Amino acid sequence: MSRVALVTGGSRGIGAAISTALKDAGYTVAATYAGNDEKAAAFTAETGIKTYKWDVGSYEDCAAGIAKVEADLGPVEVLVNNAGITRDAPFHKMSPTQWKEVMDTNLSGVFNMTHPIWPGMRERKFGRIVTISSINGQKGQFAQVNYAAAKAGDIGFTKALAQEGARAGITVNVVAPGYINTEMMATIPEKVMDQIVAGIPVGRLGEAAEIARTVVFLASDDAGFITGSTISANGGQYML
Ligand code: CAA
Repeated sequence: MSRVALVTGGSRGIGAAISTALKDAGYTVAATYAGNDEKAAAFTAETGIKTYKWDVGSYEDCAAGIAKVEADLGPVEVLVNNAGITRDAPFHKMSPTQWKEVMDTNLSGVFNMTHPIWPGMRERKFGRIVTISSINGQKGQFAQVNYAAAKAGDIGFTKALAQEGARAGITVNVVAPGYINTEMMATIPEKVMDQIVAGIPVGRLGEAAEIARTVVFLASDDAGFITGSTISANGGQYML
């Protein structure tokens, strides 16, 4: 029987590429989405991947949603915490709402999704948790105090939880993408975008499929000795 993989924000952008790459690798995949019913329905029609709607910022909704996925498909053995939003503004203009929305989705969402799934992974002595952080959680970014704090938090979360999962056969890792060719880039002014691309040594944006292949590797049995790691995929823009 194929393993069940759950991808948050899995019907668009990087998440859609991860969902389809996992399906192509033989997993039974479920994808969550927060708002865009039309895009999710089109994604299911195109790929055959089931989509489920809930807000990862709500612990109760995550617990109920995960229970539904597990009733439909079986226990979740691979969790990809991909759902993420931006609410960019220079700090002096950043509102408490912009701070809270980003923290709720990008950091608390990772707790809310992982916590209900964790006991089952411990019992079964197998699990793969992959969280999508960002280059901007590693280096900081003008106008992203909220986003950088949440994405750096995801890395700390991962390093701590990896220690707890190690003896139970559960690996916990981060992929930290650089600037990837998705709809999220549309919020960046063109002039700023030109400067960003000029600062990427490979001379281009990344492709969502390149992030997806990294996730598929971390989910595989071959990656069993990799845990607590952050794998950067950023075209050389920031080297740790
Ligand atoms: N470094 C230094 N200064 C910068 C800057 C930077 N990176 N970006 C903008 N500025 C400066 C501008 O030059 C301008 O300065 P002046 O006032 O002296 O002209 C000032 O900041 C802009 O101030 P505004 O009050 O006009 O800013 P605004 O309220 O209109 O906000 C912005 C504009 C939100 C900063 C906009 O420029 C923007 O979106 N920038 C891109 C931020 C970014 O890179 N976000 C990453 C999104 S991609 C992502 O998040 C995915 C991922 O994981 C990689």
